Amino acid sequence: MNQFNKSTERSWVEVSRKKLLNNLIIYKTQLPDPLKVMAVVKADAYGHGDQVVAKYLSDNGIHHFAVSNIDEAIHIRKAGAEGQVLILGYTPVERAEELVQHNITQTLLSEDFADRLIAMNLPVKCQFALDTGMRRIGLNANDPDECERVIRKVHHSRLQLDGLFTHLCVADTPDQNEFTEKQISLFEEVCSRVSDLNLPYCHCMNSAGGLWHHSDVSCFARLGIILYGLKPDYMNTLPEGIEPALSWKSVVSMVKEVKPGDTIGYGRSFTVEHPMRVATIPTGYADGYPRLLSNKGWVLINGYKAPIVGRVCMDQMMVDVTDIPNVEYESEVVLIGRSGDETITADDLANLIGTIGYEIVCGISKRVDRIYVD
Ligand SMILES: Cc1ncc(COP(=O)(O)O)c(C=O)c1O
Repeated sequence: MNQFNKSTERSWVEVSRKKLLNNLIIYKTQLPDPLKVMAVVKADAYGHGDQVVAKYLSDNGIHHFAVSNIDEAIHIRKAGAEGQVLILGYTPVERAEELVQHNITQTLLSEDFADRLIAMNLPVKCQFALDTGMRRIGLNANDPDECERVIRKVHHSRLQLDGLFTHLCVADTPDQNEFTEKQISLFEEVCSRVSDLNLPYCHCMNSAGGLWHHSDVSCFARLGIILYGLKPDYMNTLPEGIEPALSWKSVVSMVKEVKPGDTIGYGRSFTVEHPMRVATIPTGYADGYPRLLSNKGWVLINGYKAPIVGRVCMDQMMVDVTDIPNVEYESEVVLIGRSGDETITADDLANLIGTIGYEIVCGISKRVDRIYVD
């Protein structure tokens, strides 16, 4: 029997709250003075556990949070997150009363959405999204006259408009800086048109924007991925000391010898060429470990890299441990994190399969327990 409790017996995530806070502190030291942090804790705090993360940050001086929808907002409120909780996306307007009841701020996605919310006749706190080039949500900032008209209309309604924001779509990509600067100047132009309204919260920075771009208007960096110690883009270099707050671990459930000519896993995609030792790990794509890592990824055992052989199954995978000493039943396996001198990050895994670290950590499924190591 391994020495772990139930949470840590098959496949589990370990989150270091101290690392989250340390990342936040380091990030803040890089910001120009007036810029504050709004913590982005949507998608279960990027897989780290939104209730624990939001409460911890709330207790440690963060007063602004962003989530993606009303259920996430209520979830962190119930955990004790205080201050402003901003929903960055869609909420059915029929839930306006809950927004008021839980003191949640709703993003206005469009004039049509604003009109529907106004029609609910409730004093919902809200901020207008401005579309400065991403073409996702918001008023088109290429038409500042029209933006001004709609913003003033909302300001005079029963809704409580307290801010404007936009989202930068290439702030992590230095060779697209011109586009980002254009986005920022469109945002600033609309803000200046309505400066007499004294809206307290105008913000345009994500993690990358806060580090690598500047706006005199923005009061927040909406800090997501770098809070968790991951990179917006694999090519980015993060400030010294920022490190991933999450590790993902499992165990060896079986070790076997295989011989030349054997094939491993579904589809027989791996053929054994020389005698090998293969370990089975009880974590698979239903846990959120990407199947695209079949025959590509690796895990760490006893401080060594163990390459995945064959296809990742729904609940299990097989790895080559031929050259790794002392691999046995219930040896610890590191899927993301450190083992001895070796490290594998969510960004590394993402890069192997052409995606981003965000998707890896957000994809770790609910059946994987989150435990908090400090
Ligand atoms: C509107 C908005 N702001 C901020 C963020 C945080 O971005 P990042 O995780 O790159 O810091 C996101 C993330 O998707 C977002 O959609």
